[in-house]
Amino acid sequence: MEKTKVAIIGLGTVGSGVARLLLDHGDRTARHAGRILWLEKGVVRDLKKARDCDLPAGVLTENVDEVINNPEIKVVAHLVGGLEPARTIMLKLLESGKDVVTANKALLAEHGAELFDRARELGRSIAFEASVAGGIPIIANISTCLSANQIVSLHGILNGTSNFILSKMSDEGAPYATVLAEAQRLGYAEADPTMDVDGSDAAQKLAILAQLAFGARVDWKDIPRVGIDKLDVADVRYAKELGYRIKLLATADMVDDYLELDVSPALVGTGSPLAEVSGPFNAIRLKGDAVGPLFYFGQGAGQMPTASAVVADMIDTAVGRTAITFRTLELWSNRQARVTTAPN
Ligand code: NAP
Ligand code: HSE
Repeated sequence: MEKTKVAIIGLGTVGSGVARLLLDHGDRTARHAGRILWLEKGVVRDLKKARDCDLPAGVLTENVDEVINNPEIKVVAHLVGGLEPARTIMLKLLESGKDVVTANKALLAEHGAELFDRARELGRSIAFEASVAGGIPIIANISTCLSANQIVSLHGILNGTSNFILSKMSDEGAPYATVLAEAQRLGYAEADPTMDVDGSDAAQKLAILAQLAFGARVDWKDIPRVGIDKLDVADVRYAKELGYRIKLLATADMVDDYLELDVSPALVGTGSPLAEVSGPFNAIRLKGDAVGPLFYFGQGAGQMPTASAVVADMIDTAVGRTAITFRTLELWSNRQARVTTAPN
């Protein structure tokens, strides 16, 4: 069977899961891509660290140039977090002719216009299903399945770490700091969890979804945001006694000609679908003018759900199903904002 050589940059929580899917379940990629995705290289910072996957000899390296300078590697999963060196690595990959798959929403929210412009100039693709809501295929849904609609509202729980913390505080009365440490240990939180708990990570994901769903440029920093970092167990307990759950909600609503965007903790009535989303799960409730209301639910943070989205993008990229990406490029780089965040 034909092989497409691939690489992974970053074998932490997500990258190790991607390696496991590629190495242990090659039959799935063969079934869906009609070819094997052959893991040629895995790049890390520190070769001595223990990995959550068994790699064949010769795959692991600390030298990203072994990927960049290898013309046989066609598709690269870019799973390094943060802005730099993640941005520079992404540009080098594109410039060396690779198609890229990423889970790094911070990078796309901050430098998406530059990266997508560069990809388009070079005729390359950037796929990013895993950047929002982990295993939930929300990017593909909004970009393709719902393209006959004008989305009029999109509300979601988009940060798994915050939802995990709020759930444990509500269900077990666990203190904030203890549960945050648990979320870090389980690999849900970012290397620096500040943006998970201050609402920034959810705002970055909301900006990505809003650009796709509403066709407008949105700078995530313009989104008003409040996180869960100022809440304590008593707030969560009182809410529960009154028949509510506290959820970190990310919302985008078309109101007249404005797109109103917000990220903040909200009281959600117990028994409603969003209130019942617990642990590292995410959910998105959206409304299209033709399809009506839809509800998506699944694990938003964590190794294998996120790896599921990354590998699906790698398969799509390997077989040239890049339509989503190119439509996105148009939105991201060319289109003037048709709507804007509401004035204060
Ligand atoms: P992580 O566990 O911190 O892993 C990051 C990996 O990148 C590590 O293996 C690290 O190498 C490697 N790395 C860092 N700098 C590097 C460099 N300059 N060159 C080569 N490798 C480098 O992070 P993660 O949780 O897997 O997250 C990766 C990305 O996925 C982030 O953008 C994150 O936001 C996103 N994401 C994560 C989740 C999740 O649930 N964790 C879900 C969705 C999206 P060492 O191991 O040697 O230090
Ligand atoms: N740290 C992120 C979260 C990972 O907790 O939602 C998924 O993007």
